[in-house]
Amino acid sequence: MYKIAVIPGDGTGPEVVTEGLKVLGSVAKKKDIKYEVVNYDLGGERYKKTGELVPESVLQDLRTCSAIYLGAIGHPDVKPGILEKGILLKMRFDLDLYINLRPVKLFPGVETPIKDKEPGDIDYVVVRENTEGLYTGSGGFLKKGTPDEVAIQESINTRKGIERCIRYAFDFCRKRNKDNKLTLCGKTNVLTYAFDLWQRTYDDVAKEYPDITPDYAHVDAICMWMVKNPEWFDVIVTDNMFGDIITDLAAMTQGGVGVAAGGNINPSGVSMFEPMGGSAPKYTGKNVINPIASVSALQMMLFFLGEDEAALLVESAIKKVISQDMKSMAAGQMGHSTSEVGDLLADFIAKS
Ligand code: IPM
Ligand code: MN
Repeated sequence: MYKIAVIPGDGTGPEVVTEGLKVLGSVAKKKDIKYEVVNYDLGGERYKKTGELVPESVLQDLRTCSAIYLGAIGHPDVKPGILEKGILLKMRFDLDLYINLRPVKLFPGVETPIKDKEPGDIDYVVVRENTEGLYTGSGGFLKKGTPDEVAIQESINTRKGIERCIRYAFDFCRKRNKDNKLTLCGKTNVLTYAFDLWQRTYDDVAKEYPDITPDYAHVDAICMWMVKNPEWFDVIVTDNMFGDIITDLAAMTQGGVGVAAGGNINPSGVSMFEPMGGSAPKYTGKNVINPIASVSALQMMLFFLGEDEAALLVESAIKKVISQDMKSMAAGQMGHSTSEVGDLLADFIAKS
């Protein structure tokens, strides 16, 4: 019996999560998976009403769940940084979700802005470190608000944090068994402390994985290759900030935020799965947002719960509905409403 914590969140979050749960219902019936859903109303609305972000009691509850399924966090009336730091990053740090896993896969029937690339050309995974680097909040102001002010934002890189991330990436690459190539994405030519430690750690861990071809690219160069030669990549491992940036670029190459999903993983604890798109206030409540990314997040969640058959079935439903039923991945242009896309997915699963 799985206990799934659901955080629908803000904007279109609740709409896409509803479709994900519809699909979960359908696949659970088919594969005889028992689960219960526990809802948590975290997000901008709750913050505005009560001033609360993530209460300690909620974090304690989340630790006892099998997985966390998130819609979106973000509110137009709340100053940038508050909800991000107070909810998303808070959960990443407190639940030690030290891997941000972002599969980048172009499905048949999805349009990519990269000319001449087809499904199969764009099929790699980014393993982003998720608890360190520039995201720790280390730093501060000096003489704030004066003409002499100074802002310092430090990148924290620990041997332990880097090593567990790199080790995860090597293991993941081995299990994926595609090209067995792990690319370290860094900036060793300029960030000669942080990425020196990354490179040395990578080289040490690589000795234990003789079956994996080692590879390195600077972050700026990787942005060029991700557009020009995405077929070069199998698994990419990188730090928190670079990972944040390159995964948005990657998302666009696979068809945009309507399809891209990610997992915030604690390999020995509870993990959180989410669509990449934000709360999309302008589409909220219109039943036009694309729920595919949220269903992809659900598919990742099933895989991480060890429900491989269910995950594969959800993936085939996604492939079928994308290639045969949907006109576009863009909100409002799908040829179907949000709930209709969910129905199509759930029906396909029920009938298969
Ligand atoms: C992401 C998001 C977050 C990040 C923001 C919302 C804090 O952009 O998950 O990539 O920067 O990590
Ligand atoms: Mn991001």
